[in-house]
Amino acid sequence: MLSFRDKINFTDPEIIRKIAVSTGFFDEEDVKVTVALAKEALKGQSNSPENFNFLFAEDDGKTCAYACFGQVPESISTFELHWLSTLNEFRGQGIGKKLIEKFLEEVKKQGGTKVFIKTSGIPQYEPTRRFYESCGFSCEARLQDYYDEGNDCLIYSMRLNQN
Ligand SMILES: CC(C)(COP(=O)(O)OP(=O)(O)OC[C@H]1O[C@@H](n2cnc3c(N)ncnc32)[C@H](O)[C@@H]1OP(=O)(O)O)[C@@H](O)C(=O)NCCC(=O)NCCS
Repeated sequence: MLSFRDKINFTDPEIIRKIAVSTGFFDEEDVKVTVALAKEALKGQSNSPENFNFLFAEDDGKTCAYACFGQVPESISTFELHWLSTLNEFRGQGIGKKLIEKFLEEVKKQGGTKVFIKTSGIPQYEPTRRFYESCGFSCEARLQDYYDEGNDCLIYSMRLNQN
């Protein structure tokens, strides 16, 4: 049975590392960053003005997906999803979508009215883009050559109704 938790615990940095590596989407530097964010969240201290919240999906107690998000610094009620990954063998089972629903619920609870997600425009990320579209996000902007020459950043967004 699928369940969710928002408390990060001391085994999570390693679990996050395994999930991120399993996707085959992130290079070593990316993985280091996502693990470092988890360690900071665990210590309850971040050097960044952003606050990093984690959400985990568990299948019968096994952590199989995670999301990391936070309020955009200096914004009134705008949030960004920084990371989202499903353990490779659990992909395509609806877990990512349920985690997005949970994330949107949490953002609403925190007073959020708009959510942004950055992703890459290269062909490797086509399934990811389709995933976000299937979750109800729309592509609002394209920043050319953002990640690298020929690797654009696509900014997906969704407005949230606070009612
Ligand atoms: C993107 C990701 C988090 C999605 O999680 P998931 O658990 O596999 O997704 P789900 O099973 O919940 O899929 C939900 C919807 O997206 C669609 N989808 C998911 N993966 C897809 C794929 N490879 N191709 C096409 N559609 C896809 C599903 O068909 C489903 O649509 P539906 O509800 O209309 O049937 C996961 O595949 C992943 O970790 N990808 C690699 C890392 C990544 O790209 N992270 C985001 C970085 S910005």
